Amino acid sequence: MSTSPCATTIIGTGHFVPEKVLTNADLEKIVDTTDEWIVSRTGISERRIAADDEPTSHLATEAAKNAIENAGITAEDLDLIIVATVTPDTFFPATACYVQAKLGATNAVAFDISAACSGFLFALQTARHFINTGNRKTILIIGAEKLSSMVNWEDRNTCVLFGDGAGAAILQHRPLNEIQKTPTPTVLASVMGTNGALTDILRVKGGGSACPVTPENADDKLNTISMQGREVYKKAVTAMCQASEEAIEKAGLTAEDIKVVIPHQANIRIIEAIIDRLGLPRERAFVNVAKYGNTSAASIPIALDEACRSGVIKSGDHVLLVAFGAGLTWAATVVRW
Ligand code: UT7
Repeated sequence: MSTSPCATTIIGTGHFVPEKVLTNADLEKIVDTTDEWIVSRTGISERRIAADDEPTSHLATEAAKNAIENAGITAEDLDLIIVATVTPDTFFPATACYVQAKLGATNAVAFDISAACSGFLFALQTARHFINTGNRKTILIIGAEKLSSMVNWEDRNTCVLFGDGAGAAILQHRPLNEIQKTPTPTVLASVMGTNGALTDILRVKGGGSACPVTPENADDKLNTISMQGREVYKKAVTAMCQASEEAIEKAGLTAEDIKVVIPHQANIRIIEAIIDRLGLPRERAFVNVAKYGNTSAASIPIALDEACRSGVIKSGDHVLLVAFGAGLTWAATVVRW
């Protein structure tokens, strides 16, 4: 492997969403809610729901195949697979191991990252360290979630928000002189943060070692998502703005240089608040929350792939990816496309 100065490039993206669509009208039949409430408070119109025989590894594998094809490589070229998810197929082995087998990526080491909605950007930054130290050359990162398996379908505060899906990207080591000759999307800067003092405002309380689900507490739905929505909302706006500003500065840019923002898709109001605070026109944000709802770790890579394929992101554009999630966790990354 080359020891000349190198950078992490993004050579392909992909995504996959399950076929089944659950609309707000469908939810009106399940809980006490309305399409008007959901659209005006969140911007969500519908979300995708995976079938019983589509675990997270299936969604992840399909998104990965899409990204591998887009990158023009084969699964054997991969030397590391990182799956970011909070809805793994099983507690262990890692979902990344199932994906490795399904892809036939026999040369890849595989492990998972758990950072909730920030998971994809945590995976990206982890992969970048592997690349920058010369340890790995071609890395598949995936954000994949089957949140429908963790939703309390009787809780209107949360069940209207989430959806299933997966997005992926192929990162590759490239010497800087090569990037100068052939411009390739290059990661310029990343920041990440965590505030573990606020674990209880968004979590799945039960099902782990602290609070196993037993026949006695099974009715309490402890293994489903619970959230203090308004608290999360406020923290999300503050942390995402700060992370964005730090990443932009670290990249040697100003907010005005950012042509496209790919924010975590949780709520249109959060997205608009961030864009406004950065002083950017709202059109700079790529938004698909209406179609998919909040897909946690999958939301940024799905949006990134859609933005690339639809021509929203053009060669030379500076792109800001910014996430926030349970933990609390947050992250921002700037890429020159
Ligand atoms: O992925 C990262 C983490 N997640 C997020 O970023 C989500 C952050 N939070 C949010 O997006 C918003 O806080 C929500 C969309 C979850 C809620 O919006 P809100 O404007 O903060 O509403 P609220 O929670 O303060 O609830 C307002 C009212 C309440 O009624 P009362 O107590 O005022 O009578 C809720 O019971 O809306 C009621 N409500 C609903 N009504 C109809 C809550 N959910 C629903 C619903 N349909 N689905």
